[in-house]
Amino acid sequence: MPIYDGESNIMVTSRDSSLEQAHFNGLTMSLLASGDGTELIHHHLAAGYDWAIGPEEGWQAFESICVLRGHLTWESQEGTQHLRPGDVLSAHPIQKYVVFTAQEDTDFLYVVTQPVFHQYSQQLHALVQMAISIAEKDGYTSGHCDRIKTMSVQVGRVMGLSQSQLFNLNMGSFFHDIGKIRVPEAILLKAGKLTDDEWKEMREHALHGKRILLESELPYLKEPANIVAQHHERQDGRGYPLGLRGGEICIEAAIISVVDSFDAMTTDRPYHKAVSRADAAAELQRCKGTQFHPDVVDAFIRVLEEDPGIQAGA
Ligand SMILES: [Fe+2]
Repeated sequence: MPIYDGESNIMVTSRDSSLEQAHFNGLTMSLLASGDGTELIHHHLAAGYDWAIGPEEGWQAFESICVLRGHLTWESQEGTQHLRPGDVLSAHPIQKYVVFTAQEDTDFLYVVTQPVFHQYSQQLHALVQMAISIAEKDGYTSGHCDRIKTMSVQVGRVMGLSQSQLFNLNMGSFFHDIGKIRVPEAILLKAGKLTDDEWKEMREHALHGKRILLESELPYLKEPANIVAQHHERQDGRGYPLGLRGGEICIEAAIISVVDSFDAMTTDRPYHKAVSRADAAAELQRCKGTQFHPDVVDAFIRVLEEDPGIQAGA
């Protein structure tokens, strides 16, 4: 099954009775042909973006990708693999997650013997719009979800997470606050201090988010749903909703917690002035081991040092 990068601005348009397109930031899919349960989908993936395929219960499809232009890489046990124009990769059925990264603007054909185009593009469209609208209501610009996702995956890579963990982190980070859609606006937009009861409702967003992703019934959002549920847990057990501590918290959620806090500190919002990156990094260090996973803070600081242009607070 194809799994699409959790990007914003997806748009599904019907061009005529047989051809359709779906656009994400960085990814354009065009359904070229469909018949006898087989689909031929052209993908254009912009440099630096990811696209993934992975196993699913009951999935028996034959899948094949053929690179037309550009350069894709993916990680195997033997190291980094390269796909260049003319290279073909096939699986039947696929056994594990494979995340492809476009090293440059890349076009490839994807052939699949189980129809997937509508199911995945339209359901994801609704969720992506929901995530962006809630981030905007929360006082962020529309780039917040993308920033959290990009930085989280950078940290995950530095920490040596597996391909499937990176994929789950990609999705979980993009949708981490989607549950706020079920928090009453009067609470979400309240300028003053929240009452105890209002905080209780606000904290529910972590579990609301898990429910929303599970209700989508998109198989590849099952694991990210658990990550979303844990993104406000703390290492010392003083987080919510369950008060998990240390190793009880999945590493993907621990990464999102650090990245989200950094982005919140370095972003101008209606009731909060941005602090400098250095001050935000110092705060992460101060809360290392209590609020934040120590290894994640170390990895995040490394990412900041290695990538001084890292986008934050846009
Ligand atoms: Fe949150």
